[in-house]
Amino acid sequence: MSFPQRRLRRLRRTPALRRLVAETRLSPDDFIAPLFVREGITEPQPIASIPGIVQHTLGSLRAEVADLVGLGVPGVILFGVPETKDEVGSGAWDPNGIVQVALRELRDTFGDRVVLITDLCLDEYTSHGHCGVLDGRGSVDNDATLDLYAKVALAQAAAGADMVAPSGMMDGAVAAIRGALDGGNFLETAIMGYSAKYASALYGPFRDAVDVTIEGGGDRKGYQQDPANARESLEEIRQDLFEGADIVMVKPAMSYLDIIARARQEVDVPIAAYHVSGEYAMVKAAAERGWIDGDAVAIEHLTSIRRAGADMILTYFAREVAELLND
Ligand code: PBG
Repeated sequence: MSFPQRRLRRLRRTPALRRLVAETRLSPDDFIAPLFVREGITEPQPIASIPGIVQHTLGSLRAEVADLVGLGVPGVILFGVPETKDEVGSGAWDPNGIVQVALRELRDTFGDRVVLITDLCLDEYTSHGHCGVLDGRGSVDNDATLDLYAKVALAQAAAGADMVAPSGMMDGAVAAIRGALDGGNFLETAIMGYSAKYASALYGPFRDAVDVTIEGGGDRKGYQQDPANARESLEEIRQDLFEGADIVMVKPAMSYLDIIARARQEVDVPIAAYHVSGEYAMVKAAAERGWIDGDAVAIEHLTSIRRAGADMILTYFAREVAELLND
């Protein structure tokens, strides 16, 4: 054949060529590490279903953040595990609640070298395990919950959060929180909305990590999204942006790459994706059996999430993959 036939394989021949033509790059800059801090413990507690991740003491939390900063990971998101829970989840806004204490310590230690994000929800703090307060009939009262989210936002901002991340899927949460923050003169505190958050079965290991059991074998299908729906996610995202979100999130990630890709076409704000506990656990469990190469799959997952259009990834792999990428 005389015409210059194009061979697509030419640019795949060597690692350097592949690097040169890579359309997507993965870097520690892309990661936000989810970290659990538990009140009243003196040693970090391993979480069986999230291998390699622990419930931190205040001391081990500080050491972990120091390592992450050293690896080039720019952000962490904190989840608290309180010693006691109640009907309304008051530990979430107590100035001496575990997350507020941790925030003050981390801010003192690290200044502005790390972005401190807080999950803003009540489920870790309520005795019934729901993300809000219950009405008389046992379902979550949307508007009563918003008043409490406003209090949590103020407590987290006062303790030093750069960004709060409402994860409860209540309607109007971003507006309520923005209003409270502005009213408290926390004009610089950003909001990362868990905008398109599905009622997924992949959060199981996380609930072990925060000691949450939903009362009466309940679920969150009355407030989190149905996995059958895609267009609804765009409604959620547009609504959160209208209410003042600075960053929008899609969660989980791997089963919802179509949502990330559609969101990327619709909006120009930063998009985050949460590679959740169940996604991480599946990789770890299969790797432990020798069925897959865990490191390679981790990088493939995270690269795919970036390729779909996410700018940043909340991932339990943050530390491990940052180490691999820095090698
Ligand atoms: C709610 C919250 C959950 C996760 C993050 N924030 C649990 C839920 O909605 O039930 C799940 C994260 C994961 O599975 O890694 N506070």
